[in-house]
Amino acid sequence: MAARVIGSEHITDAAQRGRRTIEILPGDIVTPTARESAERLRVRLVDGPLERPVAIEADGATAARRSLYRRNPKWTSPRPHSARSNSKISRLALVGAGGVGTAVAHLAASQNIASEIALIDVVPGLAESISLDLSHASGITGSQATITGGTSLSLVADAQVVVVTAGRPRTPGMSRADLLQINRRVVRQVAEAVRTSAPNAVVIVVTNPLDEMTVEMLRATQFPRNQVLGMAGTLDSSRFRQALAEAAGVAAADVDAMTLGSHGDEMAPIVSRARIRGRPLTDYLNADAIQACVQNAITGGGQVVALRKTGSAALAPAHAIVEMIDHMRGARAGLVPVSIMMEGEYGIEDVVLGVPCRLGLTGMLEVVDIPLEDSEREKLQAAALAIRARLAD
Ligand code: LAC
Repeated sequence: MAARVIGSEHITDAAQRGRRTIEILPGDIVTPTARESAERLRVRLVDGPLERPVAIEADGATAARRSLYRRNPKWTSPRPHSARSNSKISRLALVGAGGVGTAVAHLAASQNIASEIALIDVVPGLAESISLDLSHASGITGSQATITGGTSLSLVADAQVVVVTAGRPRTPGMSRADLLQINRRVVRQVAEAVRTSAPNAVVIVVTNPLDEMTVEMLRATQFPRNQVLGMAGTLDSSRFRQALAEAAGVAAADVDAMTLGSHGDEMAPIVSRARIRGRPLTDYLNADAIQACVQNAITGGGQVVALRKTGSAALAPAHAIVEMIDHMRGARAGLVPVSIMMEGEYGIEDVVLGVPCRLGLTGMLEVVDIPLEDSEREKLQAAALAIRARLAD
């Protein structure tokens, strides 16, 4: 049998299926995150091959009968994959019908992630036209989502999840921080509507500058921190994994890597824990190549802005938002980097920063303090200082 790479998702999956032990065969690679998950979820990793009871000799028909009609009361049929309990979002409100909002609506409708999708934009006719256009596709996709569109923020009422992309996007030469003053006003307005008409909603902030706007949303809604999530880490991590995969000549799915810190120059792609096919990056790439990938993750969004000239990236951000929603609704398991208000984790407090979290339908369930190298912890501290300084401006 070929050696397997056992990642944290396998452990989480095994735990969800009620398994208490996992047999590790010679040659198997167990990632450090998998070992941590195993410890946390109390799944034992047992060195195999384990001795199995010797099968009693029987003719073929008897053996088949035995395995099909086992009477062992402990035996339960394996749950089919589709039986994993993914919740559907009852109402998903998307504030901002630009490229990102439109792409999220498209993904959410075609993947049947939400029962109702409300698209809102200040430009008259824009959200309405996109909702109608998307509804027209249901004759092909079979999407059961009810899609509405309009200019009024009253459409956020009773939303379970609100994704905020509204605001000015970057244009070439602009940093995300340049948008601070303009977009602060937009975020405050949206926060007021969410606070009054969707008080239980989990808000996913996407408007830039991301970390600062997440702080703004938190302050203006006065929601508990678990209800206000900034989307950056899922996008930046995807860019980092893609850069590593391209440099190493492997598939993106072979790369396990996360970025933390800010969604800007102080982004912290985590090299120490990144793995390609379960092995450290240095087994595949030299220090310069790794550094180039780190840089690519940090500048990825800017590269799209420079090419596009009139706006920023839309498709990868939309997938990154859906990744977060999928973590919330139980369609994905494990840790995901989210920008969240820090309360002492990693020795940082009172500022929003990208850190690994577990998500659920109520938003952030837990910030997970994963082992990092000192230099990486210092990068998180530096990001916290920079964001605090920008907020004080
Ligand atoms: C980006 C924007 C969404 O990184 O911040 O592309």
